[in-house]
Amino acid sequence: MKILRTIKEIQAYAKEMKAAGKKIGLVPTMGALHEGHLTLMRQAREACDIVIASVFVNPVQFGPNEDYDAYPRQFEADCEKLESVPVDAVFHPEPSEMYPEGFSTYVTVDGDITDKLCGARRPGHFRGVATVVTKLINLSRADEAFFGQKDAQQVVVIRRFVEDLNLNVHINMVPIVREESGLARSSRNQYLSAEEKEAALVLSRSLKRAKEAYDRGERDVEKLKMVVKNTLSGEPMAAVDYVDLYSFPGLTPMHTVAEPALLAIAVKIGKTRLIDNTILGKE
Ligand code: PAJ
Repeated sequence: MKILRTIKEIQAYAKEMKAAGKKIGLVPTMGALHEGHLTLMRQAREACDIVIASVFVNPVQFGPNEDYDAYPRQFEADCEKLESVPVDAVFHPEPSEMYPEGFSTYVTVDGDITDKLCGARRPGHFRGVATVVTKLINLSRADEAFFGQKDAQQVVVIRRFVEDLNLNVHINMVPIVREESGLARSSRNQYLSAEEKEAALVLSRSLKRAKEAYDRGERDVEKLKMVVKNTLSGEPMAAVDYVDLYSFPGLTPMHTVAEPALLAIAVKIGKTRLIDNTILGKE
């Protein structure tokens, strides 16, 4: 596996692969890789000739009071996992390589899809994501890029700017990978104590209950949200950030569920903010 650390290196690698007629798959990550990330890698491996992963904790998508400094960095262990897929190349730049002095161009997605859910609670977050993902798509010259439904709003935002800016890449959305307990896999699960990890099961449990109510025929948005909120309130360690239900992928509000719909939650367990979601009306 090639380790690419500079803009020049990834550009040269992508140019060589393109010249050889290879179909390039890109999987952007912030590292601390787990089975969720590796599932994305395997899908890219199946769909493409060349898989480029990126491992970059992107400073511009973190707010001032968020966990940029604490975010787990374990590049050697990540490389071993990437080799096992196998991935062809990993791009692992320094922040100064991506954002040199004088950097001042950002990609901002306005409007209905960024003014809610994580977009509303994390000002500037999706501007940071859109900027880095645009750069990664350009640098890798990817034909296909792979993202997880775990961050469903992120996928909506990425598809929006890819279309708006006419980027020549197809965006794939991969279903949420969970532990056997139901807990959605996340690099941030590393922050949880054993007791908190147990408490965190309430997220997936609350979504499962709402899905069951939906399957029994409940279509009233407020009632479905209440099922989630009532389940969450049964866990004393859980502090709700949001419980919301929107059309998917439009993210427009509704009173009655129109399918498919995104039921998404953000909940703090101790100091750790976790997100999870389910798409209703998708087989
Ligand atoms: P990160 O949180 O490292 O996630 C990288 C990719 O893995 C994202 O597309 C995310 O949705 C996906 N992913 C994470 N956990 C998953 C799970 N349990 N099941 C399925 N997919 C999962 O998301 C980011 O990094 C960044 O915002 C990034 C896109 C790399 C831009 O900096």
